[in-house]
Amino acid sequence: PSRSTRLTVNGRTHVIVHEARVSLLDLLREQMALPGTKKGCNEGACGACTVLLDGARINACMTLAAACDGRAIVTVEGLASADGTLDAVQRAFIAEDAFQCGYCTPGQIVSAVACIREGHAGSATEIAEWMSGNLCRCAAYPQIVAAVERAAA
Ligand code: FES
Repeated sequence: PSRSTRLTVNGRTHVIVHEARVSLLDLLREQMALPGTKKGCNEGACGACTVLLDGARINACMTLAAACDGRAIVTVEGLASADGTLDAVQRAFIAEDAFQCGYCTPGQIVSAVACIREGHAGSATEIAEWMSGNLCRCAAYPQIVAAVERAAA
């Protein structure tokens, strides 16, 4: 069975027809040509698929697209300004060299944006706790915390 869902993604509203059980992650990547949000574990354990849903971070792999009807999603592609200027968190990740292979980076960055906006970037410990759902197999954790601190300063 298919259904249609109205989603505002990175500021633009779309009505998408999709399989009833498709995840938000697969919808973004496969039907909306937004591959920035990554698929790691596909079971809610790694954070690679982190996006903002009405401003709150979620794992897109664990969220049905249909459950997002009428709601607003921001993916990593939506963080930079229209002219391509990177957002402060993206700039801080570059400045602190906060990635190695880069696969987890979109999820890390979206989580970091939520961390700062929601007021959880008061100390390195608080940042590390907030970011603990975003795994990095290259173990760039110290640089990731430093990047969030830099962006929050
Ligand atoms: Fe969603 Fe790992 S891909 S949490």
